[in-house]
Amino acid sequence: MNVLASIFLFSLLSLSLLYSVKAKEVSAWGDKYHVHIVNGLPDNTNLLTIHVFSGDDDLGFHDLHVNDDYEWHFRTVLPGVTEFFGHFWWAGKEGGFSVYNDDLAYDHCQTYVCYWLVKPDGFYIANKTNPNDLELSKLYLWN
Ligand SMILES: *[C@@H]1O[C@H](CO)[C@@H](O)[C@H](O)[C@H]1NC(C)=O
Repeated sequence: MNVLASIFLFSLLSLSLLYSVKAKEVSAWGDKYHVHIVNGLPDNTNLLTIHVFSGDDDLGFHDLHVNDDYEWHFRTVLPGVTEFFGHFWWAGKEGGFSVYNDDLAYDHCQTYVCYWLVKPDGFYIANKTNPNDLELSKLYLWN
């Protein structure tokens, strides 16, 4: 092999290594994530209606009673590709946002669990099931 070819191959290798390290940082692709949406609203109020969907998956509409936990899981494919959206309705209020994407995973689902708790004052996330108040972060408000 001549010198130029070796240099070319070496660069290619370094580049792909660099890319996989960076990708791992951003999304941990190929990992299995569990997302939960839990109704943490008061007793004796309306049901919580949710609609969860991604670009190629529609998980449908679901009515959740108090403490119901709607859970699904998936494996990420490539960085930046997997994203699930949630739309929420309760007592005349509405909310809508991304319930899973790379940034959320990196910031809030380090344990491969994204646990959403829906409360009267907004939408909270934690990286484990049955979190205490200190382990919950409030990310969104009802509209
Ligand atoms: C889970 O979230 C808490 C904050 O609520 C954080 O202190 C902890 O480090 C996170 N766990 C992991 C494994 O990153």
